[in-house]
Amino acid sequence: MIPADLVFRQLFDAASSTYTYLLGDARTRRAVIVDTVFEQHARDHALLVELNLELVAAIDTHCHADHVTGAWLMQQATGCRIGVSRRYQPPIQGADLPLDHGDRIAFGGRHLEVRATPGHTDGCLTLVMDDRSMAFTGDALLIRGTGRCDFQRGSAHALYRSITREIFSLPDACLVFPAHDYSGRTVSSVAEERTHNPRIGGAADERDFVEFMANLNLPRPKQIDVALPANMRSGQPADGKMPRPADWGPVRQTYAGLLEIDPEWVAEHLPQVHVLDVRQPEEMHESLGRIANAQHVPLHELKARLAEIPSDKPIVAVCHAGMRSGQATVILRGGGLARCANLRGGMLLWSQLGLPTRQSQVGTGERTG
Ligand SMILES: [Fe+2]
Repeated sequence: MIPADLVFRQLFDAASSTYTYLLGDARTRRAVIVDTVFEQHARDHALLVELNLELVAAIDTHCHADHVTGAWLMQQATGCRIGVSRRYQPPIQGADLPLDHGDRIAFGGRHLEVRATPGHTDGCLTLVMDDRSMAFTGDALLIRGTGRCDFQRGSAHALYRSITREIFSLPDACLVFPAHDYSGRTVSSVAEERTHNPRIGGAADERDFVEFMANLNLPRPKQIDVALPANMRSGQPADGKMPRPADWGPVRQTYAGLLEIDPEWVAEHLPQVHVLDVRQPEEMHESLGRIANAQHVPLHELKARLAEIPSDKPIVAVCHAGMRSGQATVILRGGGLARCANLRGGMLLWSQLGLPTRQSQVGTGERTG
């Protein structure tokens, strides 16, 4: 059970099977995010905004070899600090919250306790919730597995001691949330792993574990040559630039995955965009009016009439409240019209903001599709 005063979300990146965790103090709205993935930045940032959370820190449990961290992107977007182990040599560039065993990472009235759990890498950390109800074990302890120890100064001896001393000493009921799972498992517990983990659970001793780990014969991680150098820079791209969802305007990606743009910007840049109104014909004559020069194609006809949509300008889809036009952007993108966005709030917000409209009349010369 997640206590009412805690905001908790477990997010997943399917490409790298990585879990990202968002933890927030429900009262003060201060939050931390653990193990973000570069490619999921827009999703994770949208969730922070939609849940009205102020990010204190983006923390990595370790320097990952299988995906690029989103920590630098998060810092650019929110001004948060970047937390990672102080042990890495050379130190991780851009990490302004170097972490040591015993540190506390506070967010509002809650905190995470930092435990050094080296072995998968020498800087691996496990983050334990203040009430010891949850542990974010990174790649030290996985569900029915452990991190590998064959690169990045890994050591099976060190990992055995880390898990048995720092994780298995937590309360039985403490939930174990790892950085990855490749089989759809989302959570375990200390008691469960102490009993059933096939590498280090039951009666396994250090020698059993080390021997097991020495014979895994795992392939080299696919992303390692890209991920390690990027993660040594906290995920800052080599060109130092912040990638944007669109090159033509301040388009945002929502947590729902839709591309969205603000009505004020569209009103000021109308000649540079193509407005596509997807409401029903009868709505076009109602009191909200319509945007000048908007092309009208009702949503249910859009797929069949994609060829009528000009592709020389970015497309802004609009409807009554911004829901159907969101669906329209999915259809447009599916049809190869990738430069498009949904008008946030639809005609309702447009008219609340007092932006210019035209009442629709027969013979106004406007395009009606
Ligand atoms: Fe890892």
